[in-house]
This record gives sequence, C-alpha cells and structure tokens, in this order.
Amino acid sequence: MNENIKVLAPAILTLEDKDYSLPTYIGVEGEKAIDITKLRSQTGYVTLDDGYGNTGACESAITYIDGEKGILRYRGYPIEELAAHSRFVEVAYLLLNGDLPNSDQLKHFSTHLNQSSIIHEDMHHFFSGFPRGSHPMGILATMVASLSTFYPIPEELDEATETQIVANLVSQVRTIAAFSYKKSIGEPLVYPSIKYKYTSNFLNMMFASPVRDYQLDPDIVDAIDMFLILHADHEQNCSTSSVRTAGSSLANVYAVITAGIAALWGPRHGGANQEVIKMLEQIHAEGGDGTEFINQAKDKDSGRRLMGFGHRVYKNFDPRAQVLKQHCDKLLNKPGVNDPLLDIARRLEEIALKDDYFISRKLYPNVDFYSGLILRAAGIPTNMFTVLFAIGRMPGWLAHWREMVHGDQVTIYRPRQIYMGETLRHYQDITQRT
Ligand code: CMC
Repeated sequence: MNENIKVLAPAILTLEDKDYSLPTYIGVEGEKAIDITKLRSQTGYVTLDDGYGNTGACESAITYIDGEKGILRYRGYPIEELAAHSRFVEVAYLLLNGDLPNSDQLKHFSTHLNQSSIIHEDMHHFFSGFPRGSHPMGILATMVASLSTFYPIPEELDEATETQIVANLVSQVRTIAAFSYKKSIGEPLVYPSIKYKYTSNFLNMMFASPVRDYQLDPDIVDAIDMFLILHADHEQNCSTSSVRTAGSSLANVYAVITAGIAALWGPRHGGANQEVIKMLEQIHAEGGDGTEFINQAKDKDSGRRLMGFGHRVYKNFDPRAQVLKQHCDKLLNKPGVNDPLLDIARRLEEIALKDDYFISRKLYPNVDFYSGLILRAAGIPTNMFTVLFAIGRMPGWLAHWREMVHGDQVTIYRPRQIYMGETLRHYQDITQRT
C-alpha cells in the first residue's frame, strides 16, 4: 500500500449473521475506498460491479479527476495551466516521468523522439497490403503490434531499452498514422523530418506531397497540439484499463498498447467526436439549421441525442471543452473559413446553452463537440479522428503501463463472474440428441 494513503476506521460487513471487518482507506484527494482483496477468501463472496463503476482497480499517481467540480490534473498540474503554458511533448514527458522537465531534459526527450520517428523501412510494404478504404484504426493497431517483431524486447527490460520503447511508441504512432492516411488516398509517403517539432511534423507528413508544399498554419498547429494535450490521459478509462489488463500478463508492450488502441476504436470511447460530425452532416443533408434536431434530441421517443453534449463524469462542465472552445473559435473565425457544418454547430451550441432542457440536466458541450470541429477545420478526415485520439493518449497509456510494471508487484487482472449458465449435464452421443 502507498504510504500516502491514510487508513480510516474499518467497514463492518454483516453476511449470514457474521461480521467481517474490511480495511478502508482515503486517497490524497479524499477518495474513500473499502479494501476487499481478502473478501472472497474470508467470506466466500465476490462483489458484482458491472462495468467496474464502483471499483478502484489500482492505486495511481498519474491523473486526478473530480467530475463534480470539473477538475482534471496531470501529475497534480491543472489542465488549464498546462494548456496555457505547455506543449504536447512537455506534457508527454510529465506524464511519463512524473515531473515537468528542465530545459536540458526537454531538449533531450524531444531529440530522442525525433530520432525515433522513422519506422523500420521494411514495414512500408505492409501499408500496401491493406485493401483500399481500410479503416486507419485497423491499420494503426496492426502496425503497432508489428513493431514488436521489428524491435524485439529482451526478456530482462533495462532502463535504456524501456526509454527507447517509449520513444518509439510516442514518436512512431504519428508516423504510422500519417502513412496510413497517405496510403488510403494513394499518395506517396512523406517521411518525418528533423526540421519540424512533434505536431508540425505530423501535419507535414499528413498533408505535404512531392508536388505540393504544405504551409503550416500556426493556429492549426496550436489547436492540434492542444487536442493532443487534452487527450493525453484520463485515468482508468476503457482503453487505459485495457492497457493495464493486457500489461498485467507481462505481455510485450507493443501488444499491450495495441489492446488500448482496440478499445479506443469503439464509438462509445474514442469515436464520439466522429459522431458529432455525422450529426452535423445529417442536419445539413436534411436542410435544417439545427432547431428541429434539438427538438428531437429533447424527445426521448425520437432516439436522437445532441452529440457532443453531456458527460458521464463531468456534471457541471468539461474542463477540456472549455480550453478547446477557445481554439475552436479562433480557427472558425479565421478569414476564408467557410464550412456550412461549422455554422450549424455554432447554432446548435447557441440554442442548447439557452434551452432549459439542457440547462436543467446540466448538459454542456463536452470535449468531443469542439474536437470534432477543430479536426475538421484542420482538414483531418473524419475516419482519422480516433487515430489522432490514439496519438494523444499514447503517453498516458505508457505512463500507466510503466506505473504498473514498476509497482511493488504486478497482480494479473483476473475478475470473477457470477455464473448463470447450465448446471452440470452429461455428454450425449450425437445420435441421441434432438
Ligand atoms: N442530448 C439530449 N438529452 C440528453 C443528452 C444529449 N446529449 N445527454 C443526456 N441527455 C438527457 C437524458 O435523456 C436524461 O434525460 P431525463 O433525465 O429526462 O431522463 C438526462 O439527460 C441524463 O442522461 P443520462 O444518460 O443519464 O446521462 P449520462 O451522464 O449517463 O450520459 C452521456 C452521459 C455522455 C452518455 C450522454 O450525455 C450522451 O449520450 N451524450 C451524447 C454523446 C456524447 O457526446 N458522448 C461523448 C461524451 S465525452 C467522452 C469522453 O470523455 O471521452
């Protein structure tokens, strides 16, 4: 147990007329927990917590969220301060190492990322093997898993190898992402360049071509960098829990990260900002300005919801959405930006923020509302949105993997179940079955 965890009075559980004393703890931010690690051996009972909504699966020192108060902190630093002063590479260092880097450490980390950005040349052939129109998340998952074969990991992981693996994953994920996009549109691959910083390098690989220079727009670079910062970690979400689950078997870390990518792919997790754009396209196709859609979203029988509004954890505001809105406004107000979907989005936001239905249910725009718009304004195709989320989340996944493998002991994740299937029955010969 972490020495910062305070012990409270034990909880008394009465089962079948017998009292059991269970240790209780309080974390550094006041979260209270009942320790049930010995529950089954002492009582014969397990807990039932579908979706793990009440289960603390680990102790962690990486990210703190208070959904009621709209707090998100990485390693203790408020997201608003990081958003105002930091860049993605610095935030990645912070998540991975626990502290903000000094200037030498940042320079060294940044150079290491740049030097690790090229994927093995033989991996290029793989991109040609995928069918046209393959989903870039499928390509990303496959390519990240295949890094394990090009960069084999020795059985005993030393510090230098671990540092290299982390640099490979944080850096190469954006190379793989850009290459998969280039393949999907039939254009030649653009290699990473020492000339550019992390986010500019990615945008250049996405949008430059041998016959067309890509003019980096500093507002777009800033907005995408901010998107990455805001998505860099979110404690024990579905993909991070998948990373911890796969990692607890001590599997190869490239395979472990692939588990996170697979979990992120789903529309209930990484795919929500795509849904915002789909909604806007639908409203546009139906010829409305959003008023009719909002009326339908308020009617439960319509089956429609205002995508990008509401949040399971943040009940007053989503701190990430507040930061991203400023970048979104800046991009959308730029001269020459003329996208009918962006006008619909503005109108939806305006109506919903004044509408009693949304106000009374505390339904505010979430991070996905603005991130979808920003990615679209930056020219990122909709099917790449989740891939960008994966680029942002990579330092978070790796920080959790590191925290777990360097913990006191790695306990393999192995939940129990309540069996509800057939009870004992005996094998019948096929001729006797009905
Ligand atoms: N549009 C219309 N009504 C809504 C919406 C919405 N987007 N969200 C919730 N409501 C209503 C819901 O019908 C219910 O009404 P009533 O009290 O009359 O029954 C009330 O608000 C509470 O809804 P809930 O489903 O209990 O709220 P929840 O906290 O369980 O759900 C949510 C959160 C995100 C699933 C939901 O707000 C939603 O479906 N939003 C749209 C999808 C979306 O934007 N998802 C991305 C979330 S951010 C992901 C991330 O952090 O990565």
